[in-house]
Amino acid sequence: MLVKLGSRTVTEDVVDLLIACHERIRTFIAMATRITADAGPDAREAAGQVRRYFAEAFPLHVADEEELLPIPPRIHDDHVAHAPAIDRLVAMCAAVEQGGPVPAELAPLAEQLERELTEHLAIEERDVFPALRALPEAERTRIRDAIRARRAR
Ligand SMILES: [Fe+2]
Ligand SMILES: [Fe+2]
Repeated sequence: MLVKLGSRTVTEDVVDLLIACHERIRTFIAMATRITADAGPDAREAAGQVRRYFAEAFPLHVADEEELLPIPPRIHDDHVAHAPAIDRLVAMCAAVEQGGPVPAELAPLAEQLERELTEHLAIEERDVFPALRALPEAERTRIRDAIRARRAR
């Protein structure tokens, strides 16, 4: 693969992009589980980062999978099922970011989402991503470029 350093035209495979998204999901949901009342001022900073990630970047990843990838019904159903919990997480984090107290429900919600997302990401990495790797290069490039274009909007 051609890599032009110092340029935005670095050639990455579509699966590399998606795995990088999954690493960010794991990072930010783990961060969410650590937002507790005794985290002090760090809670506000972390809540801001978690709010931003799940309000802005996470929906783009879900849209990529829904619109660009062949996904099994289970994966689509998970996306639908996770949405209300993600919305609650974003709302709670926004309140903490604005200086409010850490709600007692935040940590259990984050832990539940962490369990569900961990399973979901593992299924995608086991069942969806290997199939993508097997697509012809032109098709992988088309999907990768569509993922990038969504972020450039
Ligand atoms: Fe997904
Ligand atoms: Fe995913």
